[in-house]
Amino acid sequence: MDIIKAVIPAAGLGTRFLPYTKSLPKEMLPLLNKPAIQHIVEECLKSGVNNFIMITNKSKYALEEHFDYNLELELILKEKDQEKLLSGIKKIIKASRFTYVRQYEPLGLGHAVLMAKHSIGEKEYFGVLLPDDIIIHEQPGLDQLIKIAKQEKASVIAVQEVPAECVSAYGVISIKKQLTPKLFQVSSLVEKPSQKDAPSNLAIVGRYVLSSKIFNSLEEIGTYAQGELQLTDAINHMAQNGEKVFAYKVQGTRYDIGTPIGWIKAIIGTALQNPSYAGQIREFLSELDTPQSFMFNNSKNISNKEL
Ligand code: UTP
Repeated sequence: MDIIKAVIPAAGLGTRFLPYTKSLPKEMLPLLNKPAIQHIVEECLKSGVNNFIMITNKSKYALEEHFDYNLELELILKEKDQEKLLSGIKKIIKASRFTYVRQYEPLGLGHAVLMAKHSIGEKEYFGVLLPDDIIIHEQPGLDQLIKIAKQEKASVIAVQEVPAECVSAYGVISIKKQLTPKLFQVSSLVEKPSQKDAPSNLAIVGRYVLSSKIFNSLEEIGTYAQGELQLTDAINHMAQNGEKVFAYKVQGTRYDIGTPIGWIKAIIGTALQNPSYAGQIREFLSELDTPQSFMFNNSKNISNKEL
């Protein structure tokens, strides 16, 4: 079973990050010097996936620009002997194939995934990565799921434990069978349950490996709960119609950059893990306790190194 394609739904409205997201994509929010979407694409490439189907809308042109050559800039950098500043992103562009599909109306995550139907083969498994969710771990989140999908020959969704009082913010799995401490067979999914109705505290995070059968489920559901077609409803439909669906406790630190506070945490978290930045960030954070020294000491130069 080869898994070489990833669908990246990026056509949401980003209401939690307005007004920034009025005209700019949140997927281009930087984590240090790389936009979030580049982290997602790098996670895929490290997982053996290099064929990308990005679901976009009219305010997302910057995503296409980022994964394209900029010959004028390259020429200027060449004259200054600074070509290597673009070598990382050029390598990514060379190694990848990008297809952009428009979702004309934001009719939900399920609808966004359905837009990719014509780019996926009839009996193919593919990754889905929500670019709001940044997962940092030595073994990329998608790679962890691909291993399980190959082993079980079935769809797999990523989950993480959340405190019981937070379950109502997530989709949560109901467990049919626990196979290992990290692997579960799913009987159903419940979207944003109340704490007392939650079947577990294993919340769905934004990584999936899905069978192309998901498209039949999305089409069969056809109804739009509160105006949206939900991916969780379609996965539920698959699980309840004889398709095995597994959940895997994905390893890593997860940041939800869909809100300003989540994005700030992601920047600080990634900076603290990066030897080029960690020392100065720690120093800066400790200086915040003594505001005067912070005011006079905030112009240190951090070099433009790749993450
Ligand atoms: P979210 O609900 O987390 O993101 O959707 P959003 O809709 O962009 O932001 P808020 O909630 O209004 O702040 C999860 C993922 O699904 C995509 C989003 O772009 C995000 O990556 N999505 C959602 C679509 O592509 N199309 C949709 O119609 C809805």
